[in-house]
Amino acid sequence: MIIIRIFIDSSKLDEISQAYDYGLLDGVTTNPSLIRAAVEEEKAKGGNIDIGEYINKILLLASGLPVSLEVIGIDSAQMIKEGKRLYKLFNPIAGNVYVKIPINPSIDEKSHKNFEGLKAIKVLSGEGIPINCTLIFTPEQALLAAKAGASFVSPFAGRIDDHIRQENNIEFKKTDYFPAYGEEKDGDILEDNGVISGIDLVAQIREIFDNYGISETKILAASIRNARQTREAALAGADIATLPMSVIGELLVHPKTAEGMRGFIKDIVPEYRDLLERRK
Ligand code: E4P
Repeated sequence: MIIIRIFIDSSKLDEISQAYDYGLLDGVTTNPSLIRAAVEEEKAKGGNIDIGEYINKILLLASGLPVSLEVIGIDSAQMIKEGKRLYKLFNPIAGNVYVKIPINPSIDEKSHKNFEGLKAIKVLSGEGIPINCTLIFTPEQALLAAKAGASFVSPFAGRIDDHIRQENNIEFKKTDYFPAYGEEKDGDILEDNGVISGIDLVAQIREIFDNYGISETKILAASIRNARQTREAALAGADIATLPMSVIGELLVHPKTAEGMRGFIKDIVPEYRDLLERRK
């Protein structure tokens, strides 16, 4: 049976281990910002951190499951060098490293380094290094990443929603739900170049991949902000959703579930309790 895989979007050892203990972990995604949050937390506890040892621990906790580690370079030569280094240093630990490459590492929208991500994906995947292509905001970026040989493409659902709201002066909190079928303003559905929500981005990528029978590249819905968006990523056909611990916790909660539990506990008759609690 093929079912959506759940990754944890975190670099914190306690969160990764907790998610693993719940028995639902299918992988881990990190990025430089998540590594920073983990390192700062460790330092705040008073310790120095050996980053190599720390990453080894993540890989061992998630043994047998893909762990994405991101490059930091902004041109293809540097990203290729870093990708090889990450893979050489860390893949021997548990054989589960995926190198995360931005689709376009340019930090200036007008620069001409557009193809650097694709070049790096092509070279690294050609050498057998599995790639998670990150910072995907259009279906065509995902299509090109798949053509270049990426194993995963990561559309950033929540950040597209942020972008649509920011462009339209709509105030929001990071965890606020954004309608999968679009937000209306002054009678128009808001959009970013034909994409009406982060979930719509996932759905469009799904449709394009299905049109062309692209199955070797998996759609990893990222930047997921709440439980409802997780559900909608599954409805849209994402292969994987990577979730922060807070969202994983939200997935099982409903007030009527808790109310139902309180009622069942209140109604237990002693005979039934004895039967179930009897030692033999
Ligand atoms: C993906 O792997 C990214 O780490 C992540 O999902 C980004 O999420 P954010 O937009 O909530 O920072």
